[in-house]
Amino acid sequence: MTNFLPRRIRAKAPPIKIQGIKTKLVPWIADAISWSGHGRWVEPFLGSGAVALNVAAPRALLCDTNEHIIRFYSAIQSGSLTPECARQYLEEEGERLSAVGEDHFYAIRERFNASKEPLDLLFLNRSCFNGIMRFNKKGAFNVPFCRKPERFRQALVTKICNQIAWARKSMHGKDWEFKCQPWRETLKEARPDDFVYLDPPYFGRHTDYYNQWTESEADELSHAIKALPSGFAYSMWKENKYRENSHLLEHFSDYAMETFSHFYHVGSSESLRGEMEEALIISPQNLVDESARLSPPDLSEDESDDKLEQQELFQI
Ligand SMILES: C[S@@+](CC[C@H](N)C(=O)[O-])C[C@H]1O[C@@H](n2cnc3c(N)ncnc32)[C@H](O)[C@@H]1O
Repeated sequence: MTNFLPRRIRAKAPPIKIQGIKTKLVPWIADAISWSGHGRWVEPFLGSGAVALNVAAPRALLCDTNEHIIRFYSAIQSGSLTPECARQYLEEEGERLSAVGEDHFYAIRERFNASKEPLDLLFLNRSCFNGIMRFNKKGAFNVPFCRKPERFRQALVTKICNQIAWARKSMHGKDWEFKCQPWRETLKEARPDDFVYLDPPYFGRHTDYYNQWTESEADELSHAIKALPSGFAYSMWKENKYRENSHLLEHFSDYAMETFSHFYHVGSSESLRGEMEEALIISPQNLVDESARLSPPDLSEDESDDKLEQQELFQI
């Protein structure tokens, strides 16, 4: 089988950020999977879109229960959100933020929670504390301001607009479908030629409205993954310095498991940041021949803007 996935992706960062974003793990993920590319690249847990946008398959089914994420990428796909309109919006709102300060952040937050405008999501996501997305029980965005009114300097605005342009290019002219739906619905749509990449929320971590994730849901997902008609790769944390994920051994001890250690930057408390061992469970028919594998990417050399930006936010 010819492998559609490029051997070494130089991963780019998506325009929106989320807890558990996989930008810097994309080269490792892509290098571990062999897939013909004939069907669709399916993601039931799209998140920031970092994996799908970098893989850039010709056909894709990209889903999440977070309606804001789906609305954001659907707007890029339909052309209602362009790099040009994002630039104008960020320059204007960025200027107001510098002049008014945090009250302006909270005014946009209120406006977003009423109108759900994708550009307001972008503004909040890129100027809130720790650059994350978190919603309360009523589904309202509730992350506080990062206390940096000068946040939207020209360089950052340009960087964000370039990320939107790149996202648009990754999906342009392709058969991509974005859907707001739970993972059970998405898995029902999987066909034999598809490849399903699954990156659910981490249980045992602090969660938000869109990231409620229990051990029983993780168990249910594991059974559903093993019954898929297609190939799959399932991302999960394996262990950190506090605990090991027994769920993986319980359900996937018969499967090949790739592991990778990295530093996790985004978290609401110190105990959620730090060294983390990631696991990737891959369906047997999609394993890359060991002799074709590249050496693991050196993340100490990683200059990806996610890492730099998150470090910058982390220091605030
Ligand atoms: C760890 S994140 C995915 C990160 C993504 N791979 C990235 O690189 O940005 C998990 C995602 O699952 C979504 N999610 C949570 N529960 C879900 C469910 N029951 N069905 C579908 N999506 C869900 C969340 O909204 C979140 O976007």
